[in-house]
Amino acid sequence: MPQNTKSDLLRYGNAGGYLPLKKILAGFYPESSGDQLFVANGSLQILDLIANHYLDPGDTVLVESPTYDRALKIFRRAGLEVTGIGLEEDGIDLEELNRVLDKQDPEILYSITDFQNPTGITTSKEKRKQIAELAERPGFEVIEDSPYRRLRYEGDDLPTVRSFNPEAVFQISSLSKLVCPGIRIGWLVGSREVTDQLAEYAEDTYISPNQLSQGIVQWLLKDGWLDQRVEKLKELYRPRLRATLDSLERYFPESHWVEAEGGFFVGLWLPDPGKGEEFYRLVEKREVVFSSPDGFFPEKGGEGFVRLPFPALRTTELEEGIKRMAEVWHEI
Ligand SMILES: Cc1ncc(COP(=O)(O)O)c(C=O)c1O
Repeated sequence: MPQNTKSDLLRYGNAGGYLPLKKILAGFYPESSGDQLFVANGSLQILDLIANHYLDPGDTVLVESPTYDRALKIFRRAGLEVTGIGLEEDGIDLEELNRVLDKQDPEILYSITDFQNPTGITTSKEKRKQIAELAERPGFEVIEDSPYRRLRYEGDDLPTVRSFNPEAVFQISSLSKLVCPGIRIGWLVGSREVTDQLAEYAEDTYISPNQLSQGIVQWLLKDGWLDQRVEKLKELYRPRLRATLDSLERYFPESHWVEAEGGFFVGLWLPDPGKGEEFYRLVEKREVVFSSPDGFFPEKGGEGFVRLPFPALRTTELEEGIKRMAEVWHEI
């Protein structure tokens, strides 16, 4: 590390992020300049700033149903109105989205387009294009949340929604799944207007994001370290996703699940949602534990949904867990 940066890292820093790190992250977005990037202590902090400062209480945010439970909590706590839009195999239900846009005047759509949390669904290229076109509506913007984007184990990358409309779509991302969550580094790439506003809110709230973390990561990320790290993670997680999908095929042939191609999750819908409660209760007794499905759904619809997070378990543990789930299901 150069001599002068050592002491820089012990001081308060730039509200929008440590400049040497921003320079590296900006390299991921050749179409954007460094000042279109805003770095914070994790991407959730950026969502929180957007919800509490960029938007006003009473504004409407559209989300996929189901969606990331913490994002829902952040939006609600900020006093935003949340409207859920159904999710199909290839992404958000555009007909429903258009119907809602005809009737309401929402401010923002929050969408997780790659390997969605909690379903594993990836939005198709055609839908990405159409979402980007919708962002042309005056006063309507799109947040594309992509923490899992680089963790693709099968198939080819799709262009981001933002790539079709960089002025009206903000993309947020994170190192939590690529380096480690404890480092707390996330960023937004968007219009200069948004990044400047966020930096102002950040300065008034916490002065600057964690300088030490940013310095460590800047040092780690030079010389292509991240590419090697991502390749290793893919090698580790690919068989775990495969084991999850194969076990579902074997033990839950009558159920519906998502053929995820990357990320951390596979969403499973039990054939009889009415028996979901009993299933969660009994399966926990067999030491198979899930997040409560209700948290992912802005309105109703969580009955019988199961989010299967596969990266932290070995293939044999995943097979055993799904086998136990199937035993419980057949008992019921
Ligand atoms: C969709 C999504 N966004 C954001 C996050 C959290 O990001 P960070 O750790 O950067 O705050 C997660 C973590 O689970 C996530 O699934």
